[in-house]
Amino acid sequence: MQPIILIGYMGAGKTTVGKLLAEQLSCPFMDTDRMIEEQENRNIRTIFEQDGEEKFRDMETALLEKLLDHGLADVVLSVGGGLPIRERNRELLKKLGTVVYLTALRETIVERVAGSEERPLLQGQELSKKVEQMLEIRDPLYRMAASVSIKTDGKTAQEIAQEIERVWLQSMG
Ligand code: S3P
Repeated sequence: MQPIILIGYMGAGKTTVGKLLAEQLSCPFMDTDRMIEEQENRNIRTIFEQDGEEKFRDMETALLEKLLDHGLADVVLSVGGGLPIRERNRELLKKLGTVVYLTALRETIVERVAGSEERPLLQGQELSKKVEQMLEIRDPLYRMAASVSIKTDGKTAQEIAQEIERVWLQSMG
């Protein structure tokens, strides 16, 4: 099977849906954030604090290159929300597998991420405005990176995972 790669904004459900989808397909689940945390032995928040965002983005690119070198088979891979922003990363994602964009409206995202302290880019005031501004920049880039997009608003993780499986089976003919 071609690896399935889930992209989308923070709170789109990449991790929750990815785990369910991997269970459905009986294949491993991988997550770039967790892999970078393990490799660095620090959490994302600390990496941002100590090294800054740009260094974190370099780690994401290096990880994708490593995955491509080693070959990635039979997995569902969820990637950090900002990873597809770099053009190089979008190229690498396309080479790695079928890229699925989980879309979510601003309201949905704000509801899902409110109170999350793990996400350095969403700390501070005016969450809704931040999300809106970032979505405006990122949405076209996510669309460029993905071959399929799936709406997640008002759906359960189970429904989304089933929808991805259907779309993915269709795409294989
Ligand atoms: C980020 C998303 C996070 C994590 C980091 C930066 C982003 O991942 O990689 O906090 O720029 O959108 P999730 O999308 O899994 O929360």
